[in-house]
This record gives sequence, C-alpha cells and structure tokens, in this order.
Amino acid sequence: MPPKRFQAIFVLILFVVISLSSYGAPSRDSLPTYDAVADAVKHPQAYVPDLGELPSVPNPFEPSPHKPPTQANSTATSAYGPIKWLSDFKWRNPLSSSVTFDENTALLPPLRERPPVYTYYDVPGKQDKELSVAEHRLILAWRRAWWAYGFKPVVLSRREAMEHPQYQLFQRMKLDAKIDFEIMRWLAWGHMGGGVLVNWLALPMAEYENPMLAFLRRNKYRELSRVQTLDNAVFFGERADVDDAIRKVMSNELLKNVTASKDKLTKLATKEGGPVVNLLSSKDVTVDAKANGIASYNMATISSKYKTVADKLKNTTQAEGLNLLANLINSHLHLTWQEQHPEGVAIVKPVPEHTTALMYETTEIGRNLTQCPTSPMPKSCPPNRPKCKPCDAKKAMKLQQFPEFVNTTKFFTIGTVPHPYTLTSLHYTRDTLDNTFLRNKAQRDLWIRELTQKSVPDEHTEEFRVLQFKELVAAAPAHSLWLTAERITQHDLDWIFGFTLPQIASNTTEPSSPSEESELIIFPRPESPKPIKGIDVPDEKWIQKEEERLKKARDAIQSKDKNMKKVVDAVEQWNMADTEAWKFSRAYSARRTQERKKWEEEEKKFAGSEKKAGVRPGEGGGRWSDRR
Ligand SMILES: *[C@@H]1O[C@H](CO)[C@@H](O)[C@H](O)[C@H]1NC(C)=O
Ligand SMILES: *[C@@H]1O[C@H](CO)[C@@H](O)[C@H](O)[C@H]1NC(C)=O
Ligand SMILES: *[C@@H]1O[C@H](CO)[C@@H](O)[C@H](O)[C@H]1NC(C)=O
Ligand SMILES: *[C@@H]1O[C@H](CO)[C@@H](O)[C@H](O)[C@H]1NC(C)=O
Ligand SMILES: *[C@@H]1O[C@H](CO)[C@@H](O)[C@H](O)[C@H]1NC(C)=O
Ligand SMILES: *[C@@H]1O[C@H](CO)[C@@H](O)[C@H](O)[C@H]1NC(C)=O
Repeated sequence: MPPKRFQAIFVLILFVVISLSSYGAPSRDSLPTYDAVADAVKHPQAYVPDLGELPSVPNPFEPSPHKPPTQANSTATSAYGPIKWLSDFKWRNPLSSSVTFDENTALLPPLRERPPVYTYYDVPGKQDKELSVAEHRLILAWRRAWWAYGFKPVVLSRREAMEHPQYQLFQRMKLDAKIDFEIMRWLAWGHMGGGVLVNWLALPMAEYENPMLAFLRRNKYRELSRVQTLDNAVFFGERADVDDAIRKVMSNELLKNVTASKDKLTKLATKEGGPVVNLLSSKDVTVDAKANGIASYNMATISSKYKTVADKLKNTTQAEGLNLLANLINSHLHLTWQEQHPEGVAIVKPVPEHTTALMYETTEIGRNLTQCPTSPMPKSCPPNRPKCKPCDAKKAMKLQQFPEFVNTTKFFTIGTVPHPYTLTSLHYTRDTLDNTFLRNKAQRDLWIRELTQKSVPDEHTEEFRVLQFKELVAAAPAHSLWLTAERITQHDLDWIFGFTLPQIASNTTEPSSPSEESELIIFPRPESPKPIKGIDVPDEKWIQKEEERLKKARDAIQSKDKNMKKVVDAVEQWNMADTEAWKFSRAYSARRTQERKKWEEEEKKFAGSEKKAGVRPGEGGGRWSDRR
C-alpha cells in the first residue's frame, strides 16, 4: 500500500476527474479540500461524499442553465435589424430624419429595461406527456402575463440550483422532497443573483401601475421580503441577502442531523412561508402586508374557491384540470383588463368615408376584447380581488367607433395607421395617384389632423400632433393599440395584453358550452360597433372596391418599380406628418415583436416556451386554450 498521503491525493484526483466529467468544471467552493479528503481516507467510515448520493449525471440534451443577468449597460446599444433607435432625450422629435439623417430610420424611445422575474419548475423523474404539456401551457401563461406587465420572465430548474456553491452540501443532507424542492428553488434564485422569485401559479393581476408591481419593476429591494397572504409564492431581495439567508439555513441546528430532526422539519415545512422561511429567524425575512397586485392560485385557494377546477385536478383527470385552470387564469387576466377600461373599447376611424376596409382587423380585435372571457367558472373572481365584477354578456363592455381620438384612459383605443398613399387612394377613391392630383386636390396630413382634431386644439401644427401621437404609441401603461393598415396579421396580441383573446363564441345570444363534455362556458360575440353618426354606410359593392384599392396600395408601397417609387415618395413628401406617424408606429410594433421573438428564441429550450407548450410561433397561442 502506498502511504496514506498518496492515497489521499489519488482519491482527490479521482474525485475531481469524476466531478469534471459529470458536471463540467465545478465552482471552487464545491470541491472538497485536500484536508477533507485526507481525513476521509484516514477515517473511511466518516467519509461523507459517497458518489452514489450525488444527483444523477445531467442529461446532455438538457439545456444549459441560465446565466446570471449581465450588467444593465451592456445591452444598451443593441439595435434590432434595420430599425435603429437613439437615446431618450432625442426621441421626442416630430421628424425622425432630422436626427437620424435617414428617411428610413425611425427614431424610437429606448427600450424599457425589463427586470427579471424568476420561477422555479422542476419535475423529478418521468411525467405523463399530457400532464407535461398542460404544465408548460400554464407556465407559458405565467410568462406572457409577466411579460405584459413589463418584466422578463425566466423559468429556472434544478440545473440553475446545481450551479450554486452550496448545492452539494444540501444535496448530501437527504432532505425530504418538499424541503428539498424549496431549498433548490432558493439556490437557483441565489445563482441568478436575487431579484423577484415567484411561484408559476402566481400572476400579476392589477392595473399596470399597481404600487406593488411598480415597486417590483424598480428592481431595488431594501430587504429580503415575502408577501403576507401569499405564503411562499412571492419573494424579493438583493443577491447578498439571498445568499446570506441560504448560509443561515445551512447552519441551522435542525439540519445538522436530518434524521434526528425529521419530525420537527416536517412540521416546519407546512407552516406559512414555506420551509426556508421557517428555518430562518423571523427577522431575516420581512413580511410585506399590503400587497394586492399578484394573484396566487395555490392548491388551498383552488380547493376553496374554484371547485369546478379542483374536482378535475384529482387523480386521472389532472391534465384536464390543469387546462381548466389555464382557462380560469386567462379569464381572470382578461377580466382584470376589462375592469380597467370601464368605458369600453374605442375604435378610432379618422376620415371615415371609404375606409371601412381598413378597419377589419381593428374591429376583430375590438369585438374579441369586449367579449366575456371563456371560463369554467365565469362568475368567479381572481384570488386577489374577491370583490370583482364578473363579466355579464347582457351588460358587456362597450365597443364604439369614433372619428377622432378621445383622450381618456377609461377607454382602450384601437386604431389603424395607414400609409398616406393608402389613405389618399381610399379617401379620394382613386386607383392611381400622381403629382398633379396631389397638388391640386389632396389635402395634406389628413389622418393626423382628423385623429387629433378634438384632443389637440386647432392652433397646433402637424408636428405637435405627431409628437402627441408618438407619446400615445409609446406610453406605458398603454391604453391604446396601433396597427398598421399594411400588415395583415397580428401575432403578438397575447404578449401585449398578457392573455389570450377568446377564439370561439356562443352560437346563440346565451352563454353555452363548446361541446357536451366540456366544462367551459363560452359567450356570444359582441356585434360590430355602430357606424359613426352622420356617416353613410357604403354598400357591399363599394366596400369591395375599397378592398381592391387597399390591396393595390399595399403593392404600390412595396413596389420596386422606379416610377412607382417616385409617386410613393411624392405622397410621403406631401404628407410628412402622416408618414412620420406611420413609420413610427410601424417601427415601434416591429421592435416590440423583435424583442419578444428574440426572448422566445433564447428561452425555447426551457420550460413554458411556446415550443414546449405546443404553440407554434406566430400562432398566437390562442388556439389551444378554449377548445376543450
Ligand atoms: C458598464 O458601465 C461600467 C461603469 O460605468 C463600465 O466600466 C463598463 O465598461 C460598462 N460596460 C459596458 C459593456 O459598456
Ligand atoms: C443523528 O441522529 C440519529 C437519531 O437520533 C442518530 O442515530 C445518529 O447517530 C445521528 N447522527 C449523527 C452524525 O450524529
Ligand atoms: C383514481 O380514481 C379511481 C376511480 O375513480 C380510483 O379507483 C383510484 O384509486 C384513484 N387513484 C388515486 C391515486 O387516487
Ligand atoms: C391627453 O391628456 C393629457 C392630460 O390631460 C395630456 O398630457 C396629453 O398630452 C393628452 N394627449 C393627447 C394625445 O391629446
Ligand atoms: C376573434 O374571434 C374569432 C371567433 O370568435 C376568431 O375567429 C378570431 O381569430 C379572433 N381574432 C383575434 C384577433 O383573436
Ligand atoms: C353552432 O351552430 C352550428 C350550426 O348551426 C353547429 O354545427 C355548432 O355545433 C354550433 N356550435 C355550438 C358551440 O353550439
């Protein structure tokens, strides 16, 4: 036998090689020291790190864990494709080109920083496929809702927990599943550097500016806290405080001998706040008492308030139950949104003669937004707002058309921004345009003038009006949605609103069910809004003409033909303000889509991505939710 010293070195090398090959390079703190291994060789019976106790080797096909977020300023200069944007102080400029010196570059406000919000999702072992997909859909709903409220939702798993220096130590303790889960959740959170940690059944359900949500968006936390009535669903704190808490848990007496303190630990784990909080002293985690912006659907709440769903969550119908829960949560998000716009949805249709064909998409969205949400329990309220006003199809949200923008946040306004070529062609019912016509007949900047005729006093210039419009488009919280007439489909609505619009409606004027077996209730679809007073409704024949003209205009704007380009250019020069409004809203919505797509691309391998939830990109995510 070689001397003990060499045996120790040999064991150490063996350990390092095995760790390296199974986990990649370990962080410094997780390596046993020479002394520890030497000690183990001398006293083999006390040798703790038995490799059999370590977790299974990670599956190489699993995604690599999330990296902690980088410094805020490292992404500030990123530009999305051809759409460039400049710093905040310059964007409030009526004409982009006066700053960008490029006709095709719109000047946008900088992207708002999205603070991360984390959730932990881990399934030990195999799980039924249907159940998995149902869970991914719920997590997708969670991600969408937090995204809509201005956060960057990140789904963590055991892979992130494994990156934490203390992981190995906890791993060896053989804690029971419930405590282990909660500790892993904290470790994953600690690895990401603190911030907000929420349960994936806890969603924001309040006005955008709700004090608690606004506070969380600021991403600065004075102390490690949780929210009273939400048990362990929401935590927030800085990195140092989270790490400190994990260290304190580590050194808790009860964890010195887990077997001996088994009963005490089991009891702690069921107390309010969860195992980690109860392993800390009460002054380590502050309890925030008056937070109401987040709705948490934990089992206790579901059993007591949402019986229809709770019944299905039992036993063999669990996947079905989760789908019902997804619908219930979606309906509550939609309901919350509806309650924030008590005056209903306003569709703006400036220059209403001959522009009916422009409004199809807007009207579609407006009708679906004002429809009562599909739900297994339409009379129920979100858990954080027991006194809500459930949607009533007989007194549904109003849907109206106005020829101008009405400046109140009690409305949600939807508008279509046409390219001036499109508008001129439709308004003057002309298939082709030319310079002579423009000079002799066409009014300048018709659209922006009409849009703002009531909200902006007469004496103001078009430049001023465009600026007002830009503020409107870029406002947060947004009380309006601007589509461009030249884009035909809208993919991002689910992420903009944070919920899925109803995709099916009751055949009759009464609520009904999509099928015999379904537990869902669907509601009738609201009618199209009444035409604006004093404006004649054109015949079918004329609307068809409008559609043709709209199509021609789309072709003209995209045309590569030199002469056509000249004409489009002339129209743009003639309508500088309208062109600016069109370019701004187009670029704004393109960037919003880019931001989200990029995020989805980064997250596609993790739980709750559209891919894992069975939603094809661009499909909108609405198709699955209210079918069953
Ligand atoms: C971020 O800011 C710090 C200090 O202001 C600076 O040292 C660092 O280089 C910046 N990082 C990047 C990527 O710009
Ligand atoms: C832990 O407690 C159990 C039961 O009380 C005891 O048998 C065991 O020796 C203890 N282990 C250590 C390492 O103290
Ligand atoms: C599931 O339900 C069936 C019948 O309803 C019952 O026989 C079975 O024991 C249940 N299983 C569990 C795990 O509760
Ligand atoms: C709407 O009203 C607010 C305050 O009343 C004002 O600051 C804002 O400029 C107005 N916006 C438009 C587009 O008229
Ligand atoms: C609106 O609902 C109808 C069915 O009621 C559906 O066909 C359509 O795709 C929905 N539109 C949007 C934008 O959600
Ligand atoms: C709606 O009506 C059509 C035909 O009238 C019928 O086939 C369909 O099943 C009905 N759908 C619902 C949800 O009642």
